[in-house]
Amino acid sequence: MGEFVVRGGNRLEGAVRINGAKNAALPIMAATIMAHDPVLLHGIPRLRDVDVMIRVLQSVGATVQWASNHDLLIDPRPIQHYVVPSELMQEMRASLFVTGPLLARLGQAQVFQPGGCNIGDRPIDLHVEGLRHLGAVPLEGDGTLLLQCQKLQGADIHLSYPSVGATENIMMAASRAIGDTRIRNAAMEPEIVDLAQFLETMGAVVRGAGTSEIRIVGQEHLCGSEYTIIPDRIEAGTFALATATAGGHVLLKNCLPDHVPGLWGRMREIGVDVREIDAENMEIIAPERYRPASISLHTNPYPGFATDLQPQFMAFLLKVPGVHLISERVFESRLGHARELRRMGAQIVADQRVAMIYGGHSLHGAQVRALDLRAGAALVIAGLIAETPTVIAGREIIERGYENLATRLQGLGADVTLT
Ligand code: EPZ
Repeated sequence: MGEFVVRGGNRLEGAVRINGAKNAALPIMAATIMAHDPVLLHGIPRLRDVDVMIRVLQSVGATVQWASNHDLLIDPRPIQHYVVPSELMQEMRASLFVTGPLLARLGQAQVFQPGGCNIGDRPIDLHVEGLRHLGAVPLEGDGTLLLQCQKLQGADIHLSYPSVGATENIMMAASRAIGDTRIRNAAMEPEIVDLAQFLETMGAVVRGAGTSEIRIVGQEHLCGSEYTIIPDRIEAGTFALATATAGGHVLLKNCLPDHVPGLWGRMREIGVDVREIDAENMEIIAPERYRPASISLHTNPYPGFATDLQPQFMAFLLKVPGVHLISERVFESRLGHARELRRMGAQIVADQRVAMIYGGHSLHGAQVRALDLRAGAALVIAGLIAETPTVIAGREIIERGYENLATRLQGLGADVTLT
């Protein structure tokens, strides 16, 4: 497994362009399965998770090719297989997103129960329950799940939790069902809105995406289309927090400020100068030093503070003198990075859900491990202020969600290399 090697002490200066959003690309790529003709997607990031989704699409029969560095051409016309290979499901949980589209196109879909991961059990009951409401019949096998349905029927679905993936799977299946579907307590993330807008370019009728109630009018036919996905709000937040931690002045290009409502206010409260230059560019200017503070943060579904920025924010708080509290309310065990940060001298006390961070103390380098891609990003950020080099194992895990992270941080003045 490859490593990131970070030598701290450098400020970050300059500009970085934010790539397309991983968590918009994956469901939108899955949705192309339902198109009658080829789809051309722009702004698709070059990530390991995108590569896995390409292999998933190819495994069911689609032809997929890069039209240019970030443009992906997908032809779903040859699709005829409904089984997603188990090794791809195990490699990436988001392979689950093809279930609804395969049901819509072929009337059946077989996936393997994705295992849990370091951040939680990751059940799929909300996906299955929603698709069952649309008429799918689930048949469980040895770790497999086969869903069959002659023709999906619109339904009134109330999610017990605003699951992002379940909302997306149901939206996609409902867009090809007979009749109307209403999803209540739907997830409201920007990636949901982006998927809805993409579906509409294919001829779907989706109303209310971005609110807790989404209505879909099913269509018999969805055509091919061309679409540009939104920028990656989590990547933008990661670079912003890296700048606030290492110190410096960085322009974030292709960054939509409204997509991370819970972050900018907290950073300003702590003393970071966060400026919205225009609708698509932000400037992050770190103070020379942080005044003592006592920050309390909890993660929540959108528009709450994004769980995908919680590890990076914890690394940032190590720079801020005072006693801080983080409560992780989306996943049941997404604080494992606290243990890795403690190896670097961080003073953090944590259980499964709550962490107390004693900020303002120096860090030293260490051999640490990326437990998931956001935890890995947090370790890179902490390495930027460690007094000796930090070696982070799990380069491939970090590269699931960050394209050329080392090169782009080097471009801002950081000393980050790969092994
Ligand atoms: C999406 O995962 C994102 N992944 C995650 O980003 C993100 O952390 C998460 O949404 C929350 O914002 C993609 O979009 C590819 P959920 P998803 O369903 O859809 C429970 C990253 O780092 N749940 O909203 O899996 C679940 O266990 C990744 O880019 C059920 O109980 O998230 C969790 O506690 C990590 N049953 C909570 O809901 C279900 O059927 C939120 O999960 C589904 C989910």
